[in-house]
Amino acid sequence: MSSSQTTTIQVEPTQQSRLAQVDFNNLKFGQIMSDHMLVAEYDNGKWESVKIVPYGDLAVSPSMSALHYGQAIFEGIKGYKFEDGTVSIFRPDKNWERFNKSAARLQMPEVPEEIFIDGLKQLLDVDSEWVPNKEGTSLYIRPFMFATEAALGVHPSKSYKFIIITCPVGAYYSKPISLKVETHYTRAAEGGVGFSKNAGNYALSLYPTQLANDEGYDQIMWTDALEHKYIEEAGTANLIFRIGDKIITPHGDTILHGVTRRTIMELAEKWGYQAEQRKVSVQELIDGIKAGEVSEAFAAGTAATITHIDRIGFEGQDYTLPPVEGREFSNKVLGYLNDLRYGKTEDPFGWNL
Ligand code: COI
Repeated sequence: MSSSQTTTIQVEPTQQSRLAQVDFNNLKFGQIMSDHMLVAEYDNGKWESVKIVPYGDLAVSPSMSALHYGQAIFEGIKGYKFEDGTVSIFRPDKNWERFNKSAARLQMPEVPEEIFIDGLKQLLDVDSEWVPNKEGTSLYIRPFMFATEAALGVHPSKSYKFIIITCPVGAYYSKPISLKVETHYTRAAEGGVGFSKNAGNYALSLYPTQLANDEGYDQIMWTDALEHKYIEEAGTANLIFRIGDKIITPHGDTILHGVTRRTIMELAEKWGYQAEQRKVSVQELIDGIKAGEVSEAFAAGTAATITHIDRIGFEGQDYTLPPVEGREFSNKVLGYLNDLRYGKTEDPFGWNL
């Protein structure tokens, strides 16, 4: 199947919807999956079949290479429902691009637009009832791909599955979070896979994050592998700071190039803020906090949306950020993005698909 071909997607509807069991007033993140999923199979050098089927378990071989060598990548996207029932998807084209960059780095096949984007749209048509409409809720969309060849030799798999599952969600973080600056463990090094959204990047974060949790912090602020001098990201989200008059986010190929981060930086620029993507040292941040120049710090991601940071721990000392209510930029962005994504304001950028 080339990217110029039209894909026929067979739909096998569920005989038993689970929709009635969902408490839409009390949605947790990623717990209840929607009725259907899209499944595409890659073999013999091409995408062979694309289907929308009832959500359910998969049969896989114990020697499947993803389980052993980690060829597994994913994305996070959100769908929203307008008051009139229209379902929109926020900037999925950017996730599709990033997904294929992750695929290339892990020697996996690209997924064509008509499977990733058109397939997603069809899946949401089938499961439109699952998209919640209350403010603060959305349909979390998880496209992922993994290597399915049953073989223990270390080589790129010859076969893959690309799947999209979805789930109605509330907030990932329900309150501001605290971060511990990590100065021992490392998430990514130059030339590595930090920019790609691969499963291993999340597996490696679990142990250091547990240590941070044990010390009373919610998440880690990752720093560079070489000197632990420069701030990278928070693992489940990117980081953005307001230092003086500037909106600043760390940049480089050791961090994930987030779609939410990109959106916020684009807005900052359009709204006339000085927006900078550059290296930010931990010292610059700490000095800024001490001098009262850091007025805002937040995590930005699809799941996290915008999550305020209230405390940063560095070398055994805690630094407290200003109260959330006074954070002019991040609260303005949050309000604007909510209005845009729920269709309450015009979409001048064409971000709602
Ligand atoms: C997202 O923001 O979509 C993520 O993938 C982060 C996390 C839930 C793994």
